[in-house]
Amino acid sequence: MKGRTILYTGAAGGLGLDTTLLLIERGAHVIALDNDDAKIAALVAAAEGRGPGRLTVSRTDLADLPGLRATLDALAARHGGIDVVINNAAIYPSKPFEDYTIEEHQFVQRINVDAGIVAVQAVVPGMRAKGFGRIVNISSITLSGGWANLSPYVASKGALVGLTRAWAREFGPWGVTVNAIAPGAFPTDAEKIHPDPEGYERMVLDAQAIKRRGTASDIAHAIAFFAADEAGFITGQTLQVNGGWTMS
Ligand SMILES: NC(=O)c1ccc[n+]([C@@H]2O[C@H](COP(=O)([O-])OP(=O)(O)OC[C@H]3O[C@@H](n4cnc5c(N)ncnc54)[C@H](O)[C@@H]3O)[C@@H](O)[C@H]2O)c1
Repeated sequence: MKGRTILYTGAAGGLGLDTTLLLIERGAHVIALDNDDAKIAALVAAAEGRGPGRLTVSRTDLADLPGLRATLDALAARHGGIDVVINNAAIYPSKPFEDYTIEEHQFVQRINVDAGIVAVQAVVPGMRAKGFGRIVNISSITLSGGWANLSPYVASKGALVGLTRAWAREFGPWGVTVNAIAPGAFPTDAEKIHPDPEGYERMVLDAQAIKRRGTASDIAHAIAFFAADEAGFITGQTLQVNGGWTMS
């Protein structure tokens, strides 16, 4: 990853922090976009001493799509283009389908999908010019079914898989690969939406073939794999990282 510049949305989150550290350790420069000050402070502290100058943090609210585009144009110009985009930031409200307003549904799509579209539109001309790019979209096991009350979130994760395939076809001739990762159940903030943590953990371990909880490191290594130069013949795929919960 030496010399590669990586744009990572939601990089300060539960799965993002460890992944950022791994990418930095492998020589990349990570531009972390997030809007949670406490999580950003924890990321900056964790990255200290791991590679001077290899982490740039941009406190950005992805909900402001024109603002995001302006920020990305400035960052790409300052850093000589972006080689890798990781569309990872997400929100995950949970309630029955009938209780969502259309505005609430649309807001989830804005953060989880539209911000990724804006990110890719901002960086793909540079990737095309270089003849190299890696895009990694973070989907979810929830797209495989099995969860109620998450309809805007599940719809957003399906949209990301659709975009993964559409972009893979369109950008492939330019040396740009596009893949998705569908995490299973990982004990981060995303899991706090479940009302019975112990029962949920039992359910997860029963469902998985691997009888331990997933860790952020499991996701980090999958992302690093798709982001690497060596993964250039793999595109349009969705990798399930879920301890063998679902198999395809
Ligand atoms: N943890 C799991 O079990 C799990 C399972 C399946 C999929 N995923 C997916 O993995 C990805 C990472 O999830 P996580 O577990 O690290 O969750 P997380 O909530 O810890 O991380 C998400 C990050 O996105 C950031 N973010 C949210 N809204 C934002 C906005 N408007 N502007 C800027 N940043 C914003 C948050 O501040 C946070 O740091 C997400 O796409 C999630 O859907 C997670």
